[in-house]
Amino acid sequence: MELLQGIIAVVREAGEIMLNAEHIEETVEEKSGRANYVTAYDKKVQAFLFDRLAGVFPDAAFIGEEKEENPPVSEGYVFIIDPIDGTTNFMKGYCASCISVGLLKDGQPYMGVVYNPYLDEMFSAEKGRGAFRNESKIHVSDHELKEGIVLFGTAPYNEELSKRSFSLAYEFFERSLDVRRSGSAAIDLCNVACGRAELYFELLLSPWDYAAGALILTEAGGKIMTADGKELTYEKKCGVVAGNEKALQVWTEVASDIR
Ligand code: IPD
Ligand code: CA
Ligand code: CA
Repeated sequence: MELLQGIIAVVREAGEIMLNAEHIEETVEEKSGRANYVTAYDKKVQAFLFDRLAGVFPDAAFIGEEKEENPPVSEGYVFIIDPIDGTTNFMKGYCASCISVGLLKDGQPYMGVVYNPYLDEMFSAEKGRGAFRNESKIHVSDHELKEGIVLFGTAPYNEELSKRSFSLAYEFFERSLDVRRSGSAAIDLCNVACGRAELYFELLLSPWDYAAGALILTEAGGKIMTADGKELTYEKKCGVVAGNEKALQVWTEVASDIR
């Protein structure tokens, strides 16, 4: 528990870098893929987290989205970090981005922290100890999908997935109250975890997008799997679907038929 509190304190401080960022668009650089960018602040937040988290937990290795070469996740403790999840929102001043810090132990989620500094919402979880939004314990909803909200990501950097993503969004729009697209996978997973939405899917994500959120979600009583129904992996990119049990059931029935 002390370790989790240490991570939370560092992440909260890193949130100040996002809140105080100025002239963001002047610092933007392109990355590979469609409409994929990084700002100087993504790099600054990552450097801050690497430095300060090494002080909190010297035994851990680091994986980060903005790092050139990342170590394998299979053994020991590894932090897996998305310094800013929702960079496009961040660039635009849309105020829906977060910091995502997962800690894996021997390849499996052990701790997770997702912080949205704009709302001052700190989501956290430790394996076997439940999930929290600030100090309050959270749980997924038990609503049927037809009484629920569906969140989805467009896998924006992978154009070949757009058509299927939007076909699925349409199918799930018809089976729910409505759909939403926030621009941050980690925030989406936390919003399902605390019962604000019932289902989230995205056809391709990187492990740093979901490592922290996956633990928060499962500790809140939710389920998460790859988009084709397999156990989630933290070693490579995959499609992700998460929700309460009832919503995931509908996904399993419906998604395999949609092209
Ligand atoms: C992205 C966001 C977005 C999702 C993309 C992610 P980034 O992360 O989570 O919502 O649709 O697939 O890559 O690039 O802003 O860290
Ligand atoms: Ca991300
Ligand atoms: Ca990012």
